Amino acid sequence: MLDFAVQTAREAGRILAERFGRITEVSHKGEIDLVTEADLASERFIIERIRNYYPRHAILAEESGPSDAGERRSDYVWIVDPLDGTTNYAHGYPVFAVSIALEHQGEILLGVVYDPMRDELFAAERGAGATLNGRRIRVSDVEDLNKAMLCTGFPYDVRERGEFVRHFRNFIMTAQAVRRDGSAALDLAYVASGRFDGFWEEGLNPWDVAAGALLVEEAGGRVTDYQGRPFSIYRAPVLASNGLVHEAMMRVLAAP
Ligand code: IPD
Ligand code: CA
Ligand code: CA
Repeated sequence: MLDFAVQTAREAGRILAERFGRITEVSHKGEIDLVTEADLASERFIIERIRNYYPRHAILAEESGPSDAGERRSDYVWIVDPLDGTTNYAHGYPVFAVSIALEHQGEILLGVVYDPMRDELFAAERGAGATLNGRRIRVSDVEDLNKAMLCTGFPYDVRERGEFVRHFRNFIMTAQAVRRDGSAALDLAYVASGRFDGFWEEGLNPWDVAAGALLVEEAGGRVTDYQGRPFSIYRAPVLASNGLVHEAMMRVLAAP
């Protein structure tokens, strides 16, 4: 099933890459939440493939929501973000990815995040580690927050979240650097591969984080909520790190 997910993400990524820079139709889901025709084409492709190969499995996909009605009800749920980084994509900023994860009875079994611009395929299977283009990856070994490069994301309703500004201010005063790249799935993949030492964001959805959180765990990192409690893809917020800077990040998130 990992091979299936890898193949599907690569082909969906090709759909995105082909249309990149040529987007004509952009509609708005919310005040600043965009959906492009590429989101929809990628999602249609992924759903069709899952239905062909695993007709009994359920699907939770960003643009079409849950589809586990009738005979498709199953313990397996494919959790799909057909284009993570839509705002980047719509502006021609080449940072976006396809994210596909498979959940079985509440546990994520596998996850893949594919960046078609760099041809980087991050994959993880529970208990079997994480890879980038087939090579084993591990989180970084940075121990001090002041040597750490962190990443965050601004949720679409950031304008209504006062605490976000406090967290952001506190991190830029304590970390070596803070980035905001606009694709939570890739941000987590970058923590897994040691490019970022930590990531925090609230207001995310299951399809943003299902694959990426498994990548971080399987690469030796730690994923919790802001208080260090067990992470659930159905309950934002997410704090992901190499494990070594985790407690320090929790202290910053709790600081006034
Ligand atoms: C968004 C991206 C972004 C994050 C937002 C997400 P989308 O997903 O992951 O980095 O800050 O909260 O909703 O809409 O581009 O699929
Ligand atoms: Ca997303
Ligand atoms: Ca999306």
